[in-house]
Amino acid sequence: MTKACVIGWPISHSRSPLIHGYWLKLHGINGSYTRQPVEPSSLADFIGRLEGAGYAGCNVTIPHKEAVFGLVTRADASTERLGAVNTVYLHNGKILGTNTDGEGFINSLKQGAPGLELANSRALVLGAGGASLAVVNAILEQGANEVAVANRTREKADQLRMRFGERVLPIRWDEAEDHLAECSLLVNTTSLGMKGQPDLDLRLTRLPQKAVVTDIVYTPLRTRLLDEAAARGNIVSEGLGMLLHQAVRGFSLWFGVMPQVTPELHDLVARDIDPAFAR
Ligand code: ATR
Repeated sequence: MTKACVIGWPISHSRSPLIHGYWLKLHGINGSYTRQPVEPSSLADFIGRLEGAGYAGCNVTIPHKEAVFGLVTRADASTERLGAVNTVYLHNGKILGTNTDGEGFINSLKQGAPGLELANSRALVLGAGGASLAVVNAILEQGANEVAVANRTREKADQLRMRFGERVLPIRWDEAEDHLAECSLLVNTTSLGMKGQPDLDLRLTRLPQKAVVTDIVYTPLRTRLLDEAAARGNIVSEGLGMLLHQAVRGFSLWFGVMPQVTPELHDLVARDIDPAFAR
């Protein structure tokens, strides 16, 4: 039996077992995917003993993504730039680490907004935390000319420019509304709008009608930001897609089958988040 897991601290809320469990069953694979709580103090041990414990690899979530980056062989240049790992796998006796958050974001966006062209575009990203890092890197890799980053704590936006270069434009949080003009894409990567958190309070007046709006928050499935954007005619892409799409490559690395993000999988996870979900 092939084993994989997701590690974090705490880990009880991860929906990854639901996603991978669905694919394991669908493809008739003799495998398992479990949640493993791993304290920061035992992280290095856990990673070092992955193979001995019979794992093909694991997903890594909060708060371990940066620490695991320092514990594995980095698999690719994109992960090297990010400094964070969300997927670990064994290959030729080595423990490799990669990051699938960026492709999860882009592939979700391609599904939700097929006409969006990011090459030579201008985007605005709200937030400069861990999730923002992967999102900004992914948008730059798609060839955007400028990614403006507005963050409550300005220094963290400045750090993104230092990491990724001059196409990142750090702006003040209160400048975000003015920056919406000429944007092709608006992304919320802050926790604002999440269940139990305050709403994101942003007037979309200046945002072009053809711009796409997306939120990485997926509890609720549709945030107020997305509702407001849709109401004024913008194409919106929901946050759940990133969670589903980031899981694809890990599954294929561990279990040897490239799975698909189907409407059935989407609805399964959507119902787990909101039992009242209906298409
Ligand atoms: P994640 O890994 O999900 O990105 P994080 O690294 O803690 O989590 O980042 C949370 C993001 O939400 C940050 O950009 C944070 O802004 P700060 O860097 O100023 O903390 C943003 N955020 C959280 N609460 C906020 C609030 N009330 N107003 C504005 N931004 C907020």
